[in-house]
Amino acid sequence: MCLAYHARVRVGVSGKGGVGKTTVAAVLSRTLARQGRQVIALDCDSDPNLAANCGLPDDEVAALRPFLDQSGPRRIVPTARDPQRLLADDGRRGPDDVTLMLAARVERAGSG
Ligand SMILES: Nc1ncnc2c1ncn2[C@@H]1O[C@H](COP(=O)(O)OP(=O)(O)O)[C@@H](O)[C@H]1O
Ligand SMILES: [Mg+2]
Repeated sequence: MCLAYHARVRVGVSGKGGVGKTTVAAVLSRTLARQGRQVIALDCDSDPNLAANCGLPDDEVAALRPFLDQSGPRRIVPTARDPQRLLADDGRRGPDDVTLMLAARVERAGSG
């Protein structure tokens, strides 16, 4: 992949479970960060493990706070939050200076 150095790029990795999405996302994130890019790696899987795959220590993985509002039956994107505040409050710096963020996490099993 060749990216113009100053370009802001969003890369999404999706696909069936177990095909290697998280592995590719983690390698891509750290590789781009090592090239000097600012990388925000956002895990949107409800069973998240991107932060661990990026090499964040276990205690910091556990401390990652989902930024979606999960208090109701639906997950709500907090549109009123300033993006820089969101990054500062809920982002964690990992190896190679990748900033890890977590969208949601299943805390307990429900019905349906
Ligand atoms: N290119 C690959 N070759 C062999 N095993 C791989 C490869 N990419 C990922 N894996 C392994 O496959 C499993 C699933 O990968 P993962 O990235 O967690 O998939 P996903 O995020 O799509 O569910 C992991 O154990 C991972 O180490
Ligand atoms: Mg995965």
